[in-house]
Amino acid sequence: MRRSLLIFLLFSIIILTLLLHSVSTLLSLLIEDASADAIHRAEIPEPNSTLLESRPQLIPKIIHQTYINESIPSHWKPAQQSCIDLHPDYEYILWTDAKSHEFIAREYPWFLPTFVGYKHNIQRADAIRYFVLAYYGGIYIDLDDGCMRRLDPLLSYTAWVRRTVPTGISNDVMASIPQHPFFLRVMESLKGANRSWLLPYITIMASTGPLFLSVIWKKWMGQHAHLDPETWVGRVRVLMPDEYTKHPWSFFKTYKGSSWHGKDAKLIFWMGKNWILLTALGFLVGGVVALAVWWLYTRLIVMGARRRAAGGSPRLTAFGFPVVPRVPLFRRWSGTKQTYEMVAQHDA
Ligand SMILES: *[C@@H]1O[C@H](CO)[C@@H](O)[C@H](O)[C@H]1NC(C)=O
Ligand SMILES: *[C@@H]1O[C@H](CO)[C@@H](O)[C@H](O)[C@H]1NC(C)=O
Repeated sequence: MRRSLLIFLLFSIIILTLLLHSVSTLLSLLIEDASADAIHRAEIPEPNSTLLESRPQLIPKIIHQTYINESIPSHWKPAQQSCIDLHPDYEYILWTDAKSHEFIAREYPWFLPTFVGYKHNIQRADAIRYFVLAYYGGIYIDLDDGCMRRLDPLLSYTAWVRRTVPTGISNDVMASIPQHPFFLRVMESLKGANRSWLLPYITIMASTGPLFLSVIWKKWMGQHAHLDPETWVGRVRVLMPDEYTKHPWSFFKTYKGSSWHGKDAKLIFWMGKNWILLTALGFLVGGVVALAVWWLYTRLIVMGARRRAAGGSPRLTAFGFPVVPRVPLFRRWSGTKQTYEMVAQHDA
């Protein structure tokens, strides 16, 4: 019994190490508070401030949004209009499905097979926003986010994303200069991340959505931690919840009760906001499965021991060799005297 426990523990440790290694970025995301790159309130003038903006405006004055076609549903019209009305001097581009397809085919043909191959519309809606930001630069805004004030103060960075609580970042509002290295990295990573994760929601989130973006963002910061944040153009600033929607002076307002490309929307949004919880649940399920496997394994050993105790004659394999009872692989692998002694001692 002790030997089987040893083997089980060994395998568990190996599997756990591999697992931990593969999700180390996810785990480190849990404790990432983004404070190092947060856009501080002190950097942002009051909404109707007469303070002259002295910082250079780097991000082009373009607002990008996406929808299936030009017929925006009526419950999103006020949100869309609020951003257009506040920014008459900004270019406004609505990326419809047809327009997005044409743009990818023309500018990024290497990505077209992946883009067309996505199973879910929302994956294309996710992917296109990274490409248009990398190409044109500007500010991407989800259709259910309305604007509460002009976005000019947010043009003074090379790129920013939005922080989500309790952790990670979202892709519902974000901005960048053209050819920003972070969004180039995001673009390059889309193809490799295009995997199926069984459940459509997890697939969407991990292949193109907030989870995908958060992991790349975390890795991006880790790889460039040695650079001076004051001069590094690849730095990605983070719009915090206070500046996003929480106050009268915040930039955006979320229009509630909206649905995104159909009735699954609420669940997708909920999962997007609770993906940490879902990840934890995944680990719990994994732990339960591991326990079940161990239980089965020990049951088999107990049964084997009983059968031998009952004095059953050794079974023969197809080739006529007797089946070695109890963890046969272990004995076959072990050529050294020491392990042999261990086996012999237990068998005695
Ligand atoms: C800023 O000015 C506009 C128009 O003058 C006004 O409607 C709005 O309420 C003001 N916002 C704040 C926060 O004072
Ligand atoms: C736009 O898409 C919606 C939803 O699929 C559809 O109901 C509507 O007819 C489309 N409008 C046009 C002009 O094609």
